[in-house]
Amino acid sequence: MKLFLDTADVDEIRRGARLGVVKGVTTNPSLAAKAGVGGMEGYKAVVQEIASIIDGPISVEVVSPDVEGMITEGKEYATWIPNPWVKLPSTAAGFEAMNALSREGIEINQTLCFSVNQALLGAQAGATAVSPFVGRMDDIGQRGMGLVGEIVAVFRQHGIKTQVLAASIRHAFHCVEAAKAGAHIATVPYPVLAQMAKHPLTDIGLERFLEDWRRANAP
Ligand code: G3P
Repeated sequence: MKLFLDTADVDEIRRGARLGVVKGVTTNPSLAAKAGVGGMEGYKAVVQEIASIIDGPISVEVVSPDVEGMITEGKEYATWIPNPWVKLPSTAAGFEAMNALSREGIEINQTLCFSVNQALLGAQAGATAVSPFVGRMDDIGQRGMGLVGEIVAVFRQHGIKTQVLAASIRHAFHCVEAAKAGAHIATVPYPVLAQMAKHPLTDIGLERFLEDWRRANAP
């Protein structure tokens, strides 16, 4: 399972990149706003800076509500960086825009996916990846990771090549579950990535190693 960073914060991306495990980045309008991005020019500048740090797919989300606007934005985003994945919503307008943009060879990340049916439609409309939102389903008492597993199973059963990108990841155990469910990618906030590396027994064990070494090599 590949790991992407789910952020538009360039400092977080620089820190994550140093681990050598970040293979892409996903952004969305909320993450862009949180990172202080202003307007389309600001979004372009941040996306291009992110692409200078991470050479994998960078997801850039449309903000137009209508099909024509989504298509226009998607074509524009495709010129910004070498490896853009245009984020389009799991709506009728989004699927129409996916169909148009994928036919032009533009990669698509289908976002805000909350059902197998939406994933099936997006895959047929040409999505490169579909993003089931795990945390937001958990928030309302539904099993978000169950949806990831169902989409993986259905895509595998029918030989569908669209990748399953587990999104709305809230904690390190979601990463374990997404990997076990067969997700191709999990996009994680930086704090979750940092948490994945931590275990108290590692810290205790390392301290004991170093203490024993210090004692054995004391002058
Ligand atoms: O990639 C989608 C993600 O940013 C949404 O996360 O925590 O707002 O549901 P969250």
